[in-house]
Amino acid sequence: MKALILSGGQGTRLKPLTNTIAKQLLPIANNPIIFYVLNQIKEAGITDIGIIISPETGNLIREAVGDGTRWGARITYILQTEPAGLAHAVKTANDFLGSSPFLMFLGDNLIQGGVRDFVSEFTRDTPDALILLKEVADPCLFGVANVDKNGEVIHLVEKPKQPQTNLALVGIYLFSPVIHQAIAQIKPSWRGELEITDAIQKLLDMGKRVRSHVLKGWWLDTGKKDDLLEANRVVLDEYLKRNVKGEIDPTSQIMGRVEVEEGAQVVNSTVRGPVSIAEGCKIRNSFIGPFTSIGESTIVENSCVEHSVILENCHIYGIARLEDSLLGKRVKLKQGAEPHKAMRLMVGDDAEVEL
Ligand code: G1P
Repeated sequence: MKALILSGGQGTRLKPLTNTIAKQLLPIANNPIIFYVLNQIKEAGITDIGIIISPETGNLIREAVGDGTRWGARITYILQTEPAGLAHAVKTANDFLGSSPFLMFLGDNLIQGGVRDFVSEFTRDTPDALILLKEVADPCLFGVANVDKNGEVIHLVEKPKQPQTNLALVGIYLFSPVIHQAIAQIKPSWRGELEITDAIQKLLDMGKRVRSHVLKGWWLDTGKKDDLLEANRVVLDEYLKRNVKGEIDPTSQIMGRVEVEEGAQVVNSTVRGPVSIAEGCKIRNSFIGPFTSIGESTIVENSCVEHSVILENCHIYGIARLEDSLLGKRVKLKQGAEPHKAMRLMVGDDAEVEL
């Protein structure tokens, strides 16, 4: 069994952050999202892993993931030169996949409990494909499935205008090599992409067997700001352990599950977990509230920050209350000194600022 992680894409819904960082490298609890994907693949016992990369962000992914030693895995990078769809990505990976069955994992998706049980079931029962589904409020945004009461898939449509069910396709799939024959027969969709959903429907048309599971636990698709904050909240809530390695002065209070990495300093401040504070951060005269992750070497002074993801080397000064926020690298945010409270902004393309 091999695994194929899809880590291309433009990250359009997370601009401007994704102008300089691949969306799969955005941090959740101070670790890139793709690291959690790799952990879940490792837990399922798969060590031969292909990663689809794009020309724009491929080098950043290579630098972050390396050769896979950290996961005891062998990684093959596969360049997809154009964003022509998920099924096109599988086509591009043909040489790597050969005639092996494989787990396909979108590099910005995560599910509670991992994929080990699904991989075991697929290996044991050998259907032609196994897909994961999740009940959602807005199925039009996803691939949507019709299934019978035993979980056999009957029909699939990509982003239907009038969805027949509320069961969305999660971006994690298991395939036997017959999927390649199905992909060879499909045409690009209205958005000009070779859709994996259409290829799975083609398997059904070919009389092949497609099984499904409806997920009970969380599914995180981290393509937008609020989804990323939610992923940060869920991961801090579920996985973070108290681990204070940095310096805490006697006037500070560290409450609950808080991680303070080496070289970080907390001075005259309160940190109420779950919170992750990375190496080299300085927190002074501040309050850091639950569900916050602060990236390497960021400085927070005279401020309150809660339910936010702050990337590295930011400087937050004198902000009375910052919440539900996502700050990229090297952002400077400070309260002006004058009483008339003018706003002075230098904000990059595609930024969203709510004052
Ligand atoms: C893709 C798939 C869709 C699936 C979704 C899951 O959508 O085409 O079927 O439900 O991933 O994240 P996209 O992110 O390309 O819009």
